[in-house]
Amino acid sequence: MKKWSVLAIFMVLMLAAAGCGKGNNAGTSASEAAASPSAEASGGASAPAGASADADVVYKIATDASYAPMESMDKDKIVGFDVDFLDAVMKEAGLKYKLENVGWDPLFADLDKGKSSAYDGGISAISITDDRKQSYEFSIPYFESKNMILTKEGSPIKNALDLKDKKVAVQGATTAEELMKGIMGNSNTNLKRFDSNTLALLELENNGVDAVVADFAVVQAYVQNNPNKKFVAIEDKANFTPEYYGIIFPQGKADLKAKLDPAIEKFRASDEYKAMYKKWIGVEPDTTDLVNAK
Ligand code: ARG
Repeated sequence: MKKWSVLAIFMVLMLAAAGCGKGNNAGTSASEAAASPSAEASGGASAPAGASADADVVYKIATDASYAPMESMDKDKIVGFDVDFLDAVMKEAGLKYKLENVGWDPLFADLDKGKSSAYDGGISAISITDDRKQSYEFSIPYFESKNMILTKEGSPIKNALDLKDKKVAVQGATTAEELMKGIMGNSNTNLKRFDSNTLALLELENNGVDAVVADFAVVQAYVQNNPNKKFVAIEDKANFTPEYYGIIFPQGKADLKAKLDPAIEKFRASDEYKAMYKKWIGVEPDTTDLVNAK
């Protein structure tokens, strides 16, 4: 069957890659693969045809671990909400995986290769957008987010429109960049794009810009973790509307989506999800919209 041969080819490629002893880049790390006792079960309720093959497949997932508290490096370990969430849903689906820190642009560049991409998916606080849906597949939503402004105490900035004639740093190719292009204009040189959000934050810290725009969890955590630097987080519900994160997959490699969606649907409605959210985001989530989001 087609599905089997695709899996077989994939496994051969994985073995070949491992055999080459291809080392990880500096700063690249892998979380421990989740063991899956249930994957062996013959005639199990879920995916009986693929179950035994899955026991040997280790799905490769990419991330950009410079977006705390969603994903960041703690020494050589990737930690964060997304890391715990991925582990929970992979376990729920009975799948093994390896999570690697590849960086934001490389993640998309790899997934652009579709069927021949080195990764089976990515988790990186990635908002599901119509634009991205043209090039990638997404899981059902697993997290509700929105962009927020980070600036310094005493700044005159009160909302996103105030950023029009200010200097603003964003991570390139994010929804923050898109939103700010809309407000500041496409070719405005006061909109500074960085390869990672960490660099955008540093630019504000060094007074190179007046504000950073990024996802609320990241902005709020940064304010809290740097109490003496006098940062403030500003919400703008009118200009920064809700976004949903999804796990992203390359086009034409949809088997993982089919396996994960039911696990995500179950997990996002659970108390474990709420506890995980509380642990990393600091508050209880309101999941009313999320549990029905498609
Ligand atoms: N949610 C935003 C987006 O999808 C920003 C995500 C950035 N994630 C990261 N790990 N740097 O564009």
